[in-house]
Amino acid sequence: MGKLGHDTKHHLSSKLVFLLFCVGLLGVVFIADVVWTSSSSISSAYQSVAFNWALQTSGKVLFVNATDKKDNEKEAPRGKKHHPAYKFLPATYADLPAPELEWEQMPSAPVPRLDGYAIQIKNLLYAFAGYGTLDYVHSHIDVYNFTDDTWGERFDIPKDMAHSHLGIATDGRYIYIVSGQYGPQCRTAITKSFSLDTETKKWRSMPPLPAPRYAPATQIWRGRLHVMGGSKENRHTPGVDHWSIAVKDGEAIEKEWRTEVPIPRGGPHRVCAVVNDRLFVIGGQEGDFMPKPGSPSFKCSRRNEVVYGDVYMLDSEMNWKALPAMPKPNSHIECAWVLVNNSIIITGGTTEKHPVTKRMILVGEVFQFHLDSLTWSVIGKLPFRVKTALTGFWNGWLYFTSGQRDRGPDNPHPQKVIGEMWRTKLHL
Ligand SMILES: *[C@@H]1O[C@H](CO)[C@@H](O)[C@H](O)[C@H]1NC(C)=O
Ligand SMILES: *[C@@H]1O[C@H](CO)[C@@H](O)[C@H](O)[C@H]1NC(C)=O
Ligand SMILES: *[C@@H]1O[C@H](CO)[C@@H](O)[C@H](O)[C@H]1NC(C)=O
Repeated sequence: MGKLGHDTKHHLSSKLVFLLFCVGLLGVVFIADVVWTSSSSISSAYQSVAFNWALQTSGKVLFVNATDKKDNEKEAPRGKKHHPAYKFLPATYADLPAPELEWEQMPSAPVPRLDGYAIQIKNLLYAFAGYGTLDYVHSHIDVYNFTDDTWGERFDIPKDMAHSHLGIATDGRYIYIVSGQYGPQCRTAITKSFSLDTETKKWRSMPPLPAPRYAPATQIWRGRLHVMGGSKENRHTPGVDHWSIAVKDGEAIEKEWRTEVPIPRGGPHRVCAVVNDRLFVIGGQEGDFMPKPGSPSFKCSRRNEVVYGDVYMLDSEMNWKALPAMPKPNSHIECAWVLVNNSIIITGGTTEKHPVTKRMILVGEVFQFHLDSLTWSVIGKLPFRVKTALTGFWNGWLYFTSGQRDRGPDNPHPQKVIGEMWRTKLHL
């Protein structure tokens, strides 16, 4: 990516979660205490970050009204109405203080997308597949032109390519699409992989990944396509495997994937970027929705997840190093980032569940990771909280489109799947 200059980015992509849908539609009753107990196993590194931020944000912590039936009726664990958590909510999921940015609404995508994936090449943003609803997946690409701010071209993906939870990366002309979930709800992941020549719109098959993965971190580095992490076959168990294959002009120039040094922590929905000959993996989660056992339609059912803000860097000697974590745990950001001026900008995402209600909490901040000092800043707020946004940068403007937004300024839970496009002028 560094080679392509700051206007080009890769995205990877990501994810999904229709949490609210599942809870509401399926009337899933939460297995709260058990789940919560196990989900508190968070790394101590990020706990200390979380506590720091809790201190800094005291007084600004988003407080969910414990007596508001609509929000808490179903999920409140029995006998926990007076649980101290209602009084002293940890702030890992709270909105962080952030400067206001001026956002301008642009033309909406032809279709709304949840867990869509996107790649920017020069002035074009390719928005891939994704869910329209939990029961329907798109099978095409829509292209946004940053030069005249219009959605133009539309073309189909191969019939046997995955629709969501892709591994995705570009070299500036060819887009590589690896593994991912095939079909709606919580269907199976496949190993099939492809490349797209964006100039000729020609697709090619790539050697299948050694095992299927949901939303693995994927990037091109030193002529090799690297794929790591993601969730394993059951959609929930984090994979730590790391494979690579040499690629050139849209083709694999080796027959088989090579096994590389495993990633310290597995799981889906993370940023994966190469800058200055270093590979960075940021945020993500362990655990995800799983298909309901025996369900012929692979209906999604909610499982415990832990979101984290860990940052890992792979150096040229192939050693992983942990870097300072994000200001808060953040997932569903695989295509929600761009590289600008030697920094990684990340828009929105999802953070830890509400500690008492267990509901998903969306993120509305814009984060900047400074690659010179390896420090984080919160540089602004989005017009709303949103997960699996598809983000681009062109001519000084930061753009994002699609994903699932919140219920409103005072309610960070996910609601509407959107196709809206927004932009703001960035001043770093
Ligand atoms: C909390 O919710 C209850 C019931 O919806 C409402 O009557 C009360 O005013 C709310 N309290 C606050 C502080 O918003
Ligand atoms: C993008 O828009 C510009 C300005 O209208 C146009 O010249 C260019 O051909 C467009 N690119 C594509 C791929 O449509
Ligand atoms: C990036 O850096 C250049 C040179 O310092 C500056 O002119 C430009 O405004 C910066 N970009 C943003 C988005 O702040």
